[in-house]
Parts: sequence; structure tokens; C-alpha cells
Amino acid sequence: MTAVLTKKKTAKKRTAAKKKAAGKKASKRRDGAPESAKSKLYASLVVQLLSLLKGEHDFIANAANFSALLFNSLPNVNWAGFYFLQGDELVLGPFQGNPACVRIPLGKGVCGVAAQQLETIIVPNVHEFPGHIACDVASNSEIVVPLFDGERLLGVLDLDSPMIGRFDDQDAEGLNELATVFVAHEEGLGL
Ligand code: SME
Repeated sequence: MTAVLTKKKTAKKRTAAKKKAAGKKASKRRDGAPESAKSKLYASLVVQLLSLLKGEHDFIANAANFSALLFNSLPNVNWAGFYFLQGDELVLGPFQGNPACVRIPLGKGVCGVAAQQLETIIVPNVHEFPGHIACDVASNSEIVVPLFDGERLLGVLDLDSPMIGRFDDQDAEGLNELATVFVAHEEGLGL
């Protein structure tokens, strides 16, 4: 399997990692080192997402706009959207792209494995991932980011690409930051 699993983290560790990442970015800027184009893009997406969410607390509307923002802003992405946890399966949420399978049991496919292991999974080549669920024949690589409310798993954010090896650690970091912004905005809505 050529999947790349990011290290499993507890909520406390995730918070610590976020603070560390923020510190790293700040020190880089103080040192005058150039930010990569990809990190600039993700920084701009955080600003755009905050603007889309501002003053709006309809969860479906916000998730739909978030998926549209990702789909239209990230290059070489043919599917971007959500699966939300219901019992022991993931159920399709708002997305952009081709129609997709509606229910994914925990532990099945890239989404189900990411949800079960509570880890971001980068799959450089989905055809080499045992049990990959093919929703769009054009998809060749994939990244799945679990969504947490504290320790509680809410579901996953899933992106597909027709490019082999489209997603890397910077995408994982950027998408995790965006997911955190999204969930923080929705907190207290009884998800
Ligand atoms: N490929 C996913 C299924 C969802 S679609 O990519 C939209 C998986 O293996 O879980």
C-alpha cells in the first residue's frame, strides 16, 4: 500500500501541533524565508473560508460552500466534499464533483480507513490502495482528512485528483487547518 498516514494525534496533541505550526510559520516570516506558493494558497483559502462562514450558521450551506471553495481553488482536483459519521458508517454530505457512493462503512475505502484510524491519509496512487472505492474513474490520487470536534469524530473531508501523487504534506497541513476553521465555526450547533 502506498498510502501515507500522518501520525495519529490526540486532540491535545493536535492543538499543540497547530500552535507549533503557527510558530513555525511566524518564525519563517520573521526570518524572511519565502513561503511556498502552496502555503500561500492555503493561507488565502483560510481567509476566504472565514469570509464565507461569517455570520452564517447553516451547517449544510457552510459545508457546501466549503467544498465549492476547495473544488474551484485547488488545481487538479476532480472531487471535493464531505462524508459525515452516522453510527458505524460514513454518509455522503455536500460535495462538488461526480455523483459518489452514499454510504462507506468504517474501515472500508480510503475514507473509512481514515475515519477508523483517526488519521489524515494521503494516497499517491488509489489503484494501489487495497479496498479503494472508485467513485470517479478519473481519480488517481486522494487525500482524506478526519474532522474532529475535540476528541469526537464528525466525519471526513475527501479530495480526489486525476494526477498521480497530487497531494503532499503541505496539502495535509493546509486542509487540516481549513477543517479546523470550519469545525470551530460550527461548534455549539449540536453536530
Ligand atoms: N475513494 C473514496 C470513496 C469516496 S470518493 O472518492 C468520492 C474511498 O475509497 O473511500
